Amino acid sequence: MKILVVGSGGREHAIIKKIKENKDVEVIYALPGNGGMAKDAVCVDIGATDIDGIVAFAKEKAVDYAVVAPDDPLALGCVDALEAAGIPSFGPRANAAIIESSKVFSKELMKKYGIPTASYDVFDDPEEALRFVKTAPLPTVVKADGLALGKGVIIAMTHEEAEDAIKEIMLDKKFGKSGDRIVIEEFLEGPEVSVLSFTDGKTLVPMVSSMDHKRAGDGDTGLNTGGMGTVAPNPYYTDKVAAECMEKIFIPTMNAMNAEGRTFKGCLYFGLMITKDGPKVIEYNCRFGDPETQVVLPLLESDLLTIMMAVTDSRLAETEVRFSDKHACCVIVASKGYPEHYEKGFEMTIPEEIEDKVYVAGAKISDGKLLTNGGRVVGCTAVADSLEEAIKGAYDVAKKVRFDNAYMRTDIGQRALKAYKG
Ligand code: AMP
Ligand code: GLY
Repeated sequence: MKILVVGSGGREHAIIKKIKENKDVEVIYALPGNGGMAKDAVCVDIGATDIDGIVAFAKEKAVDYAVVAPDDPLALGCVDALEAAGIPSFGPRANAAIIESSKVFSKELMKKYGIPTASYDVFDDPEEALRFVKTAPLPTVVKADGLALGKGVIIAMTHEEAEDAIKEIMLDKKFGKSGDRIVIEEFLEGPEVSVLSFTDGKTLVPMVSSMDHKRAGDGDTGLNTGGMGTVAPNPYYTDKVAAECMEKIFIPTMNAMNAEGRTFKGCLYFGLMITKDGPKVIEYNCRFGDPETQVVLPLLESDLLTIMMAVTDSRLAETEVRFSDKHACCVIVASKGYPEHYEKGFEMTIPEEIEDKVYVAGAKISDGKLLTNGGRVVGCTAVADSLEEAIKGAYDVAKKVRFDNAYMRTDIGQRALKAYKG
């Protein structure tokens, strides 16, 4: 089989490596992929949002199956376009991807169907939002409606900060049209859990839970990033919490999307907060998380491509989805200065003996050399019987990846470890 994967990051590299385990796979094309994946996929210089280019390439190569991983092409209808061209694909259609691309849509969906989430108000008039926020309880949470590269959420500790956030989003249009509307919502407290799931609209199978580390610095300090590391499973996701999520959040969300005529097929990601009143939804994503995927897929014992194709064909109920009961840890090695100012183009070495544990997020090949080409450069994953060993293993790998100005957090997994110890 010829497989096409749309996207270019560490998540895509993890998906590609897992798909490669299927013996029927002859070739995987990554559009655009990155130089660090060249051993696992044929990288083709077609951008992830060039929908016409992707479809034309898929037809030209007679691709058998496509996986669309990032949010942007999903929201732009990449799966719709591939399907229209007769290419079966993994990922939601645009009318279902809206669950991530519009926070207003997802909040209204949850309200309508009684799915637990933070209480909220929606504004399309900046003056009204500014008036409202003056008396909002603190902290308060301001969110741009649309996609904003994970930066459209501001937790305001003072009324002034909230006002500044509204001005930046709605008046200065920091995130363009994504800021035409905003959500102002209640601040929730509790540990966060990420749960990715496979769903074909009839059946929903949660994957092993995980914990992201979003802040740039040790001890969860500094700026929000795309994620500096992950562990799986997440100790706060107990069997009791899992059962409650299934009953009150996961299945109701799948059913709600069906009732709205927006059947969701693909990977539905639940960003949850385990509050003292039970689990609540912080956000939905219409795709695999990054870097959650880099710990979740290494624990998947069943065949990923078989599961994906079963989702497309609405046969998930009859398909085995089995996870190992081991632990995984992924440590992101970034370029110093990320997520703000950082340099690219440092020569990088990844010793052969660790290649199978390294997911490359930002690299390119130039004159035969591998160069860093992004803020987050690689994710290093280890799987072990205990979390402690997985953390140690991931750091052992991360320290063997060499490039100038490399930066990593030193405490990935420590909070989870403490939670296990009670
Ligand atoms: P999001 O982009 O929606 O994932 O939000 C980014 C981060 O902001 C989340 O991972 C949470 O840590 C935090 N966050 C978002 N909404 C809330 C909320 N209502 N209460 C507390 N923290 C929040
Ligand atoms: N790691 C969070 C996300 O993928 O959105």
